[in-house]
Amino acid sequence: MPEDLEGTFRERYGVAPTHLARAPGRVNLIGEHIDYAGLPVFPMALQREVRIAFRPREDSLVLAATTEPSYAPCNFEISSEIEPYEDGDWGNYLKAAAQGMARAYGLERGFDAVIQSTVPVAAGLSSSSALVIASALALAGSSEFEVDPIELAELMAESEQYVGMRGGGMDQAISAGATRGCAARVDFAPLRLEPVPVPDDWRFVVAHSLVQAHKSGGAREGYNRRRGETEEALERVVAKLQLPVSEVRSYRDLLERVSGPKALAAAGECLEGDLLKRFRHVITEGARVIRAEIAMRGRSLTGFGILMNGSHASLAEDYEVSIPELDALVGIAREAGAVGARLTGAGMGGCIVALCAESKAAAVLEALTALYYGPRGRIDDLDDHLFVAEPAAGASVETM
Ligand code: GLA
Repeated sequence: MPEDLEGTFRERYGVAPTHLARAPGRVNLIGEHIDYAGLPVFPMALQREVRIAFRPREDSLVLAATTEPSYAPCNFEISSEIEPYEDGDWGNYLKAAAQGMARAYGLERGFDAVIQSTVPVAAGLSSSSALVIASALALAGSSEFEVDPIELAELMAESEQYVGMRGGGMDQAISAGATRGCAARVDFAPLRLEPVPVPDDWRFVVAHSLVQAHKSGGAREGYNRRRGETEEALERVVAKLQLPVSEVRSYRDLLERVSGPKALAAAGECLEGDLLKRFRHVITEGARVIRAEIAMRGRSLTGFGILMNGSHASLAEDYEVSIPELDALVGIAREAGAVGARLTGAGMGGCIVALCAESKAAAVLEALTALYYGPRGRIDDLDDHLFVAEPAAGASVETM
């Protein structure tokens, strides 16, 4: 356990913590805004993680502070109906996990905790889902209860809706179920993770635009609106193709019945404007994920990079979730030798991910530093914004 985490715990509670739960953030390599359409996505867990040092209590209270003084401590009672804090309060992620664990398993034993996170917040790297998964594991650990990672991921994807964002299940799945050294193809309903080893001479560089995209702010509205648009577009195409509405409830159901090109042709006849663009993104991005998995298994660096570039163009033009800062980062990375670069996560702020050969990584990092962070006066805290992703293992809980 990191010394500062243990030290803060001792200072606060006067005893040592007995357990440590940890859950990684993630970088999505490809397959953006399609998990809620039921289509596979391709993320990787990060070495950046949320850690919770805790000690079970005898009652049902959760007392949690963080090592970051700007976050006020929280304190609440676990039950199957927990009143949320004010919108945007970080404690709502703990409450989301607690309410979910209470409803599913009747767990109501609380803990004293100190939380530390090395995942940048509101950066599109799933710091919030990492917090939810780590909190759920801390609750399970407090009751000496073991939960299967896939079951936990499914339950927490649903539980996190507590904060008002209608997310898909990608973030919780990779945080709970990742395999070290691997990315994973994540399939939904039922949830499955298929690990794919990342070739050891590939480097995924993550760079933050410095524009925050809060799940509880404007980014949430933009996200929910787009999800609604994809649903409406699907309904219209299903009607146009005269498919049974009760059976075709997701894009996956649709693509099990008609090919991508046929779906796009039908969309061209019954949709226009934003709905047509959103539909086109979902269908083409789904196809890119399938090809990306093949490219990684075949160690085709350039092939994977081209697909990432295609994904960014589609997210910028058809899904309209890029911003000038993300486009600038993508351009700098490609210019410096990345074979592909794209925004990662929900967009509208947050990070990009760029792929390059190991031999080009230093040049890509240097270019991003000199052309993006330098002019913005953000060299001092560079580690928080710019790093090479290392494919990490999924969440765990251990006793000290
Ligand atoms: C957020 C959501 C995910 C996913 C991505 C976009 O991270 O939590 O479920 O939809 O956005 O791909």
